[in-house]
Amino acid sequence: MAGTETLRARNADFWARAAPGWIRHADRQDRTGRPLGAVAMDRLRARPGERILDVGCGCGGTTAELAAAVGPGGAAVGVDLAAPMVAAARTRFPRARHPGLEFVTADIETVEVVPGAPFDAAFSRMTLMLLADPRAGCATIRRSLRPGGRLAATVFRDGGSTPWLSAVMLGAAPHVGALPPLPIGAEPGPFAFADPARLERVLSASGFGAVAIEPHEVTLDAPDEPDAVAEWLIEMGPAGAAYRATAPPGQATARAAAARLLGRFRDPGAGYRLPAGLWLITATSMASATPRPTPRNPDWRALDGTGPGMDLRGH
Ligand SMILES: C[S@@+](CC[C@H](N)C(=O)[O-])C[C@H]1O[C@@H](n2cnc3c(N)ncnc32)[C@H](O)[C@@H]1O
Repeated sequence: MAGTETLRARNADFWARAAPGWIRHADRQDRTGRPLGAVAMDRLRARPGERILDVGCGCGGTTAELAAAVGPGGAAVGVDLAAPMVAAARTRFPRARHPGLEFVTADIETVEVVPGAPFDAAFSRMTLMLLADPRAGCATIRRSLRPGGRLAATVFRDGGSTPWLSAVMLGAAPHVGALPPLPIGAEPGPFAFADPARLERVLSASGFGAVAIEPHEVTLDAPDEPDAVAEWLIEMGPAGAAYRATAPPGQATARAAAARLLGRFRDPGAGYRLPAGLWLITATSMASATPRPTPRNPDWRALDGTGPGMDLRGH
């Protein structure tokens, strides 16, 4: 298990390299990827006039949705580590047409609070499992909320319930250059929160109460465009940067190989149905939250920085 600083540097490098692919496919991600966060969006129940934080906002689609929900009297602030994605979000959703919508470049793990705090609620789609130090990131979210503020978020569950993700990697990997290090154990990655008990411990230790973690199944419906769907999924995944660095013939082979494995989810003429298993997370920011180090799993304490000598950063 790599140390937190190594994981953080790896994460920053990964998202800097991944950004061009995410920007390129932003519209498809908003359209086809919407079910990945829709249940959390519903559960958040953003109300007119509220101030909402969107953590790991990517190219801003969900932040814009939140801004529409809170209306001109409210505010939606998207925060993301990757400056190019934040720039793309600002271009896609200019303030002139989206009042109350703001985007901030910041590492949620290292800022004291997100600019614009306190927020009434926080939303996050498919980001928390990617944090190098999820306890630090969740503690920032908690500090950025007013007491009693709501959190609603989604993360992937496990590889078995989202099988196309590894199918895409298996197909593309032999045909592209060096891939980022494979996540081991609880290192950041799509399935870092496969164990809901770990997720619960992270949130409780970050000062959240009323933590609920529910399994939720969704299906992403993609059009019957094998080449385009394969490219979208390769570029949004761990092989994205390696794929873009590969010469066009290699890219075509990678797409074809990924598309072959994705055939399992294809109904020719109708399209793709891609199943995804999520955890739907809801929680509430406690009034005077004190982080609760867990005695239950010493390994986890070391991993999430809640062991002896931790930096409580303002608690
Ligand atoms: C899987 S993407 C999800 C993007 C968007 N929420 C969506 O569903 O389309 C994860 C996002 O989290 C951002 N991210 C990763 N680590 C972060 C951190 N420590 N602080 C802020 N954002 C982070 C990445 O830059 C990336 O945009």
